[in-house]
This record gives sequence, C-alpha cells and structure tokens, in this order.
Amino acid sequence: MLKILTVFGTRPEAIKMAPLVKELSRHPEHVNCVVAVTAQHREMLDQVLRLFAICPRYDLNIMRPKQSLFEITQRALAGLEEVIGRERPDLVLVHGDTTTTFAAALAAFYFQIPVGHVEAGLRTRNKYSPFPEEINRHLTAVLADLHFAPTATAKKNLLAEGVALEKIFVTGNTVIDALLATVRDNYCFHNPRLDSIDYAGKKVLLVTTHRRENLGGPLRSVYKALRAVHRAYPEVEIVFPVHKNPAVAQAAHEELGDLERVHLIPPLDYEPFVNLMQRSYVVLTDSGGLQEEAPALGKPVLVLRDTTERPEAVEAGTVRVIGTDQEVVAAEIRRLLEDREHYRQMAEAVNPYGDGRASQRICRAILHHYGILREPPEEYEPGLKKFR
Ligand code: UD1
Ligand code: UDP
Repeated sequence: MLKILTVFGTRPEAIKMAPLVKELSRHPEHVNCVVAVTAQHREMLDQVLRLFAICPRYDLNIMRPKQSLFEITQRALAGLEEVIGRERPDLVLVHGDTTTTFAAALAAFYFQIPVGHVEAGLRTRNKYSPFPEEINRHLTAVLADLHFAPTATAKKNLLAEGVALEKIFVTGNTVIDALLATVRDNYCFHNPRLDSIDYAGKKVLLVTTHRRENLGGPLRSVYKALRAVHRAYPEVEIVFPVHKNPAVAQAAHEELGDLERVHLIPPLDYEPFVNLMQRSYVVLTDSGGLQEEAPALGKPVLVLRDTTERPEAVEAGTVRVIGTDQEVVAAEIRRLLEDREHYRQMAEAVNPYGDGRASQRICRAILHHYGILREPPEEYEPGLKKFR
C-alpha cells in the first residue's frame, strides 16, 4: 500500500489537483490518499474543495491579509514539517509553481521523501516573470523525483535541464480533466447578474487579473484600456470576477466601478466560471490556467503579461501575449471586436493541453514507478480538436 500525500494551497492548484485526488482515491487497494492544504488561499480554495467534495485531513490555514512571500513560505514550511513528520508518506505530490508548491517540495526533501511534481517543466526563462512562479518551478523541479509534464514542450525543457528521461511522463494537463467534467451546454448560472446578460446579442469580455508583477501601474493601465473600449462599444459587456487580493480589488473598483456594463463580481465558483467562459467573446487575463482552458473552448485569449510559459496555444494562434500597455491592450481588443477574420482565426479552437485523461496517466505512472503496474502510461499527444 502506497501512502501518497497531496499538498496544495491556492485556487488553481486545487482545481488542477482535484481530478488527481479523485483518481488516486479510485485505487484504494494500492493507494492511501491523504490531502493536506496550506490554505495559502482561504475562500478561493474552499470554493474548489466544496465543488469537488474534497475533505483535507490537514488544513494549515496559513492565509493572512496581504501576506508576503516570506510569511507564506515560513508558515507553510512549519506546518508541513508537522504534517509530513506525522504521516511519513511514501510520496508527496505538489502542483505547479506557487509558494505552497515550493515549500511542500522542500519540506518533503528535508524528510528525504520523494516528490512528484504535477504540471512540471513550464518555463519562461525570465527569473522575474512571472514572479515568483518561474523560480518556484525551477526549485521544485530540482527537488522532484517524478515529473508529470503536461506537454512535449515541457518535457523538452526538463530534459534540457538534465532531468533523466525515465523520470518524466507526458500526461496532458489535469485542468482539462476538470474542465471536461464541468462545462455544460445547458448550464444555468442561478446568479441574477449573470443570467441577465444577453450572451447572444452582446460581446462579453471576460477579465481576470492577479499577477504580483502586474500590481500597481500595469493593472491600472489595463483597466483604463477597458474603460476606453467600454465607452466606444455599446455592445460590449465586461464581466470581471475580481481576485480576493485587496490590491486588485481596490484598483478595479477605482478604475471601473462606476460603469454600467462592467460587472465587477466576487470570484466565481469554478463551475459558473468556466461556463461563463464558454459564453464569452474574448478572454483577457494574466492567469496561467485560463490560457489552457480558453483555447480548449475556442475562445481567443489576450494575455496581459510580457511572457508566457504556455507557448503551445500562442503557436497555434489562439493566444496573444500583449503585455499591459494601455494603448496596445485597447488596440488588441478593438481588433477582435472589428476584424471578423482576425477573430475567426483566433477562435479556431486548439487543444494542446489535454484530453481529459491526465489524472489517469499520472496515477498509472506512479503505480508503474512503484512496481504495482508493469506498463507505464502511453504519452499524451495533442489532438487539435476543440471539445464543443
Ligand atoms: C497566488 C500564487 C500564484 C497563483 C495565484 C492564483 C504565490 C506566491 N502566488 O497568488 O502563483 O497564480 O495564487 O490565484 O504562490 N486573498 C484572500 N482570500 C483568498 C485568496 C487571497 O483574501 O481566498 C487575499 C489575501 O489578502 C492574500 C492575497 O489575496 O494575502 C494574496 O494571496 P497570495 O496567495 O499571497 O497571492 P496570489 O496573488 O493570490
Ligand atoms: N477561476 C475560477 N473562478 C474565478 C476565476 C478563475 O474558478 O472567478 C478558475 C479558472 O477557471 C482557472 C483557475 O481559477 O482554472 C485560475 O486561477 P488563477 O487565475 O487564480 O491562477 P493561475 O492559473 O494564474 O495560477
């Protein structure tokens, strides 16, 4: 029997680990699956735990208002020392690139317990962009023993850093497992504000922002661009579920709070959120996960960052990395509103990130690694079809 401790702390980690926790729990004859959350996020994590009905055995409850990177790291590390010391698992699974991810990998290493890294190998090669995620991923890769790369590009990145071939599994991204289980054609929001929008007659711009390196001037500049677009195009509705970070909320409300067709709403549960994405015209975001989800739904994405670690959809033409300059952001949105051919080309759905079976592959890879299954999983290969 393998004891596997899965550790996560923020909304996106929870969304992307939930399908894997479910999959591991389907093998009780081989796997004892224990979940610990740092709760680096509180409300935004709880939304996901509720939706996927995950009950963590440990909840470190570390979140504080306006927490610093130092605080998150210290509090996560101290709490995880206790959890890992008590559980002594055979394997610790972490996801992606948050400070929880790095702290959990480091804590496991201090106990000399192997680490499995889900969503391994994403790189921008720019130390400060995204900050601190690029370095969190590097540090986690150095500490990891098993690397679950979502794409062939991610595998190539890891090989270039000297990771041994047999420790890398190309699995697809578990975010697509979650997405496929959640998007529905006949979805009803049960939210008067979202239900009141005329999705067929209007053009809905879905906006999310939260990156640390964008706080302050860059976000203000993006919001000013949205304001200008809103004024010029009466057919535009802007739906902006605002991240809980007070620095984001304050700037968003100051720059956009007085506009009638701008809906500044609290973070949505994952289910309404992805169903809203499915009905949107364009997605504007500095998020990582949205760059994977929106292309699978055939939605053009404008990335409000200078770099991306997810080049696959950029290469396919569905995602454009446009930065945060006010004039550029406004011009890029205008082009998508006015140039039908440009819109059509970007909305050609591509799906380079998964086929809904990433969790199965990761689970198989683990069972294979520990000698329980003879065969490793087959590698994920992208099909270029959209889901709907
Ligand atoms: C964190 C991750 C980032 C990830 C993002 C997903 C780090 C350093 N950053 O960034 O990689 O992309 O999550 O959203 O790991 N807050 C609440 N309630 C919540 C969540 C956040 O009030 O449920 C507020 C708190 O004041 C908190 C602040 O938001 O201090 C920032 O949260 P934090 O986890 O430090 O950073 P994020 O920008 O959310
Ligand atoms: N998301 C959500 N509700 C929202 C906004 C986003 O459930 O109001 C989901 C989204 O579908 C994606 C994930 O949260 O799966 C992205 O999280 P975030 O942007 O916070 O982090 P990142 O992906 O940048 O690490």
